[in-house]
Amino acid sequence: MILTVATTPFEGQKPGTSGLRKKVPVFAEPHYAENFIQSIFDSLEGFQGQTLVIGGDGRYFNKDVIQTAIRMAAANGFGRVMVGQNGLLSTPAASNLIRKYKAFGGIILSASHNPGGPDGDFGIKYNAGNGGPAPEKLTDAIYARTKTISSYRITTSPDVDLGRIGETRLGSMVVEVVDPVTDYAQLMQALFDFDAIRALIATGFTMKFDAMGAITGPYAQRILEDMLGFPKGTVMNGTPLPDFGGHHPDPNLVHAKELVDLVMPEGGPDFGAASDGDGDRNLIIGRGMYVTPSDSLAILAANATLTPGYRQGLSGIARSMPTSCAADRVAEKLKIGCYETPTGWKFFGNLLDAGMATLCGEESFGTGSNHVREKDGLWAVLMWLNILAKRRESVADIVTGHWAAFGRNFYSRHDYEEVDAEAANGLMQALREKLPSLAGQNGIATADDFAYDDPVDGSRTTKQGIRLIFADGSRIIYRLSGTGTAGATLRVYIERYEPHAGFHGVETQQALSDLIALSRSIAEIEQRTGRAAPTVIT
Ligand code: G6P
Ligand code: ZN
Repeated sequence: MILTVATTPFEGQKPGTSGLRKKVPVFAEPHYAENFIQSIFDSLEGFQGQTLVIGGDGRYFNKDVIQTAIRMAAANGFGRVMVGQNGLLSTPAASNLIRKYKAFGGIILSASHNPGGPDGDFGIKYNAGNGGPAPEKLTDAIYARTKTISSYRITTSPDVDLGRIGETRLGSMVVEVVDPVTDYAQLMQALFDFDAIRALIATGFTMKFDAMGAITGPYAQRILEDMLGFPKGTVMNGTPLPDFGGHHPDPNLVHAKELVDLVMPEGGPDFGAASDGDGDRNLIIGRGMYVTPSDSLAILAANATLTPGYRQGLSGIARSMPTSCAADRVAEKLKIGCYETPTGWKFFGNLLDAGMATLCGEESFGTGSNHVREKDGLWAVLMWLNILAKRRESVADIVTGHWAAFGRNFYSRHDYEEVDAEAANGLMQALREKLPSLAGQNGIATADDFAYDDPVDGSRTTKQGIRLIFADGSRIIYRLSGTGTAGATLRVYIERYEPHAGFHGVETQQALSDLIALSRSIAEIEQRTGRAAPTVIT
């Protein structure tokens, strides 16, 4: 039976950089998730009888909202729902299913790298038929709908058994429970040289992969341990738990400390990697060498033809604006296009669909390609493994060799987390007003507020971050995070290009110290936020 339930709008159901994210208790308010899901459906056209992919990263509340989403999909007229066993799907695996089975779209339940559990975060995002995050036009429409919604449709059916693989009927809709890993693993096998990686393992090569108690555990165990033959235990924290086992599943040097401490010292494994809550981010380290996401993109691009999936070469590279310019130098050498987009994976979608870019990357630990329309943590790990298997050099040698060939873009991001939202907005506003007077001072050549003109659909996106670009190519960038759920997070991105290999060994914060000091004084960070130093440095 289909019910039409009367409801009233909730304030603040505005999707951020990557869907709607709120604390679990907010999502748990009666009608809250239902309102948002119905607003998604009300903003779409033509899905009657079509397939919807549903899955999540297993965080607390996942199981409840999945059942709600299935009932609402049935009541709204979808013909089929494809859902990962036990409600699990990594974000890139969901993107793959949407594309492979030509689904109308997908609903992914995740708050990505934000902590989980009853007091943690929850999130819902919609991905379109190309497998990528909903474009701005659609998220704007969804938000507008949340403000006027007066009812939602839901069936009264009992919970679907998500533990059992196979099909069941829910009224006129079919629910198909699928193994979350199989299709994804097949895709990885088609892109990378698994035999070469096995041969590398046979030489005694070792690695550790930290799934951080989140979604990539089952994916990494199947691919790294079962298929490639790394020993059991290579995957740490491999069971997805509703609270991620207390981990903050953000693969950076701070939150993946357990892995970093294992891999960095002499005598540790040759290679280390981690992924985030929903499996789209990655951290890459080698013995004694942390690879910044910006460098990782550049190195993957420079070595892509060593892998079967990219043997033909790349059509272009895209990076988000705050990501370092290291990839630009590779694109220049390869004589391929290089695109600078606003922060947020959705901005890569058009470039990938149009065949203008093959690899994309962001400083926020996201790397990916045209194989899906999301960034992909395990994909990056496997691409690195494939390159290591072909080059038979250490991670550190590959990275320093890359710097020697292209120069090094020293790079660091300073985050001031949970600052007062008003103070943060005031700081950005003051910078905006100061822009005309900044150029010409302190070696700054241009100062602007980044705007992006999409070369495919002609749309313009404004106010994407304050950029101070220095005469020598150094950059300081300021923007406010679009993914936080408490207060505001000010991100300051600092970059300096160093062509001479003799200076490449300098410690990063040291190499950037002048720019760091300037970044604080120009924006009056301490006066305005009360913070003398960032809370996280990556
Ligand atoms: C999510 C998106 C990324 C984006 C990141 C930025 O992870 O998927 O594409 O780069 O958020 O987060 P921020 O907190 O800086 O807005
Ligand atoms: Zn994520």
